[in-house]
Amino acid sequence: QLSGVTTIIVLGASGDLAKKKTYPALFGLYRNNFLPEGTRIIGYSRSKLSDEGFYERISGYMKTPTEEIKVLLSKFLKLCTYVSGQYDVDEDYQRLNKAIEDIENVNNSKEKNRVFYMALPPSVFVPVARGLKNNVYSKNGINRLIVEKPFGMDLDSSRKLGKALAPLWKEEETYRIDHYLGKEMVKNLLIIRFSNVIFGAIWNRQSISNVQITFKEKIGTGGRGGYFDEFGIIRDVMQNHILQILSIVAMERPVSLSSEDVRDEKVRVLRCIPPVKLQDVLLGQYTKSEDGTNPGYLDDDTVPPESNCPTFAAATLFINNDRWEGVPFILKCGKALNEPKTEIRVQFQDVPGNVFKNASRNELVIRVQPNEAVYMKMTNKLPGLSMDTVISELDLTYHRRFSDLVIPDAYESLILDVLKGDHSNFVRDDELDAAWKIFTPILHQIEEEKIKPQPYTFGSRGPPGIDEFVAKYGFKRSTQEYNWPAQPAT
Ligand code: BG6
Repeated sequence: QLSGVTTIIVLGASGDLAKKKTYPALFGLYRNNFLPEGTRIIGYSRSKLSDEGFYERISGYMKTPTEEIKVLLSKFLKLCTYVSGQYDVDEDYQRLNKAIEDIENVNNSKEKNRVFYMALPPSVFVPVARGLKNNVYSKNGINRLIVEKPFGMDLDSSRKLGKALAPLWKEEETYRIDHYLGKEMVKNLLIIRFSNVIFGAIWNRQSISNVQITFKEKIGTGGRGGYFDEFGIIRDVMQNHILQILSIVAMERPVSLSSEDVRDEKVRVLRCIPPVKLQDVLLGQYTKSEDGTNPGYLDDDTVPPESNCPTFAAATLFINNDRWEGVPFILKCGKALNEPKTEIRVQFQDVPGNVFKNASRNELVIRVQPNEAVYMKMTNKLPGLSMDTVISELDLTYHRRFSDLVIPDAYESLILDVLKGDHSNFVRDDELDAAWKIFTPILHQIEEEKIKPQPYTFGSRGPPGIDEFVAKYGFKRSTQEYNWPAQPAT
């Protein structure tokens, strides 16, 4: 834990990310007494805002279900102040520095720690990192810099960005956020895998047929189309969030839980993955919903009319090591689909020489969101006088199993890690490099060859070819109709 006085500085404080994620997470930490004693928060961005205007903006997404929480919110806002300034003007940063010093001096502490959260567009990453280092860096305390994606557009630009930042901020001061690493069920993966002898023994190519990691959203790019078009779904979600999940599903057991041991293993497994090939990719772009109420991707005025940008992608990766050779890892992600859902589905092999006909495969499903759960699909005797089989499940649905379940927001958990100086759930520079190596050639090929995505209807299951695509890699649907009996979260 940090000793002394801590100031959190949110750069890009008037923006969307700060309003929707950063400030609500800071408030969550405050409410639960996780901010170090005396912590103050300063927002900085270009917009000229009065304190009142700023408070209004950042409170918009904070939940205050009870009177008590409302009171806490007004106390929290008293810890927050705002300074406006440009991102490339030293004098403005010096004003920010002065504002921080004024707060630090009140506390009269010798150690003055500063945590900088860059909730910023990538175009200003470098000037801000420089402005902070030259003018706002604490000389008597710990400095930490949180950076949000996108970390470049491909291997080359990511390396350039890394080179520009490295002389300013040391790797141990830098926290590259991938908020999926803060999600409860993603954090649970290490424990499921390495704390249960039953999974440890079957977690390999001998028992597992294929792994699917799926990210589905119901919402389209609504309003963000212009931004999204530069990136596409592979850069937006697959190269980071889904690949991070894959690395934890597939990595070897770390020597210890120290952040470098964990990240060493993640990097090692990523380096065993050759670049994705076009033949292993399916791209889609959504068109308007059947009833016409939801517009298609191209109907967004901020999107170029002929854009080939994928809003859906499926890609199959292979891991060339002794544990995984030949096991397809099928990654799927898309916007404007039929349901919101992120899950990991490990499908096991057929039972060799099974005497029960039409048996279905076991599947272990780790449901990341919504309605967090771990369940195992298994074949069971249909109760009664016959020896018929039925697919059933061993089901650990969180909100049924854990009373008073409170799952912290991913950002809350990650900001707390930064305050504790724990890097395990942040992306290391070599990890980022390894991730880009897997996707850069395909991203370039898609752009150079202007590969057309398959259209799919807003609200559908995705492009029509998706079932065929997963079947190609050995995924088998259950022989009997099966639906996980999800209970809606209360
Ligand atoms: C972001 C992507 O990183 O993750 C968004 O840029 C996406 O496009 C979001 O909607 C999903 O996050 P969550 O936590 O809502 O699943």
